[in-house]
Order: sequence, then structure tokens, then C-alpha cells
Amino acid sequence: MKKITIAIDGFSSCGKSTMAKDLAKEVGYIYIDSGAMYRAVTLYSIENNILDGDNINVDKLRKEMGNICITFHFNPETGRPDTYLNNVNVESKIRTMTVSSKVSLISALDFVREAMVAQQQAMGEKKGIVMDGRDIGTTVFPNAELKIFVTASAEIRAKRRFEELKAKGETANFEEILNNVKQRDYIDQHREISPLRKADDAILLDNSEMSIEQQRTWLLEQFQKKINETL
Ligand code: DC
Repeated sequence: MKKITIAIDGFSSCGKSTMAKDLAKEVGYIYIDSGAMYRAVTLYSIENNILDGDNINVDKLRKEMGNICITFHFNPETGRPDTYLNNVNVESKIRTMTVSSKVSLISALDFVREAMVAQQQAMGEKKGIVMDGRDIGTTVFPNAELKIFVTASAEIRAKRRFEELKAKGETANFEEILNNVKQRDYIDQHREISPLRKADDAILLDNSEMSIEQQRTWLLEQFQKKINETL
């Protein structure tokens, strides 16, 4: 059967990854979490003294970009791919608040974006891929057959992330998370390179009041429609 490219963009913590992963699993496509790649570069920067508070040693990071190898490997326990940084599983480490609070600074750097976009495009060369992020439908795969732009209110998104961290046993402060969500929205929408915006041909999905199951059904319908159109 003909394979298509699926781009899922939107605001942080609006459940993009869950819906993208579930769809990929259901239709047998590769799933790539592009945010995890920016998170891995951020973790590398923290661990290698490139990031000190909000100060980035840009020259050092530029020189070391070639030493940063990000890969994804299927985890049979979770049924989902884990992120590896230089062959080390960093799936948990990249989801901490420490990384979340710095990732927007790193993902705003032009040379970081260029390197990540090139890797993402190579991963999608053969189609049959679901990728989620901020610039997938606009920059990475402007010709993707199916583009979805997801949004939900900042409060609902902060509540979801709060529950997620609590479930993992991490200490979480709702106000701090809400501020982080709002701050990231602002930076993502206002950065110079590839700001977060809906592609003209993307379908808008506000999932504030939707359950994961409703979302799953909706997304599968969109997928089937596109497959039928492209047959
Ligand atoms: O989806 P996420 O919250 O894991 O993404 C982490 C950060 O990476 C987010 O603040 C924005 C950035 N990002 C990006 O700039 N471009 C992408 N394609 C994906 C994520």
C-alpha cells in the first residue's frame, strides 16, 4: 500500500506525542519525536558545561555538534521508541524540568536547527513516517500529505504535564509548570527561525475537551481519508 508522510505540530504538552505514537503503531509507520532530539542536544549541553544558567557557549556547541549522535530504539517494555544520546538511553533524563526549562534556548539556535532538520528529513526519505514537533509541516516536510496542528489551553496542558510528572514520582509545582508552558509557547512562536505556526494546509485540532480515545478515532479517520485520496 502507498505510504504517506504525517506531520503533527503544535504547542508543548498538548498530547501530540501520544497521538503520533499511537497512530504510528496502529498503521505500522515509523514514529519520530523531533522534540526529543532538541531535548537530547540540551542534555548534552548541560552535561558538557556548554550551558551555564541561561548562558550558552555557542562556539563550543557549534564545534561539538558533530559529536552528538541521536538515535531511537524500540523499547519492547513500553512498546515505544526510546531516545539515545551517543548510545546511552536518555529517555527519562530528557523529560526532566531541568531540560524542559532550557530546551527553548537551544532549539532557537540556527545551526542546531539545521543539523536536526537534515537528520529528520533523512529519516523521512522513504515516507511511512509520523513525526511530531513544531516545524514539521512548515519546514521539515512541507510536502507531507497529512498535516495536523494541535492545540489546547495552557492550563489544561500544564495540568497534563503536572499529572505526568507526579505519576513518575517527580516533585512538581503546578504554577512553575504553567509558567514554563506559557514561556515556551512564547519563545516557540516568536523565535526567528522556523517559529511555531500552523501550515496553511494543516488541519487544526483543539483537544482541550477530547479524550485520548476520541482523539485516536479522529486521527485515524483523517489518515484513512488521506490514504483514500492518494490511492
Ligand atoms: O515537544 P517537546 O516539548 O518535547 O519539545 C521540546 C522543545 O523543543 C520545545 O520547547 C520546542 C522545541 N522543538 C522545536 O523547536 N522544534 C521541533 N520540531 C520540536 C521541538
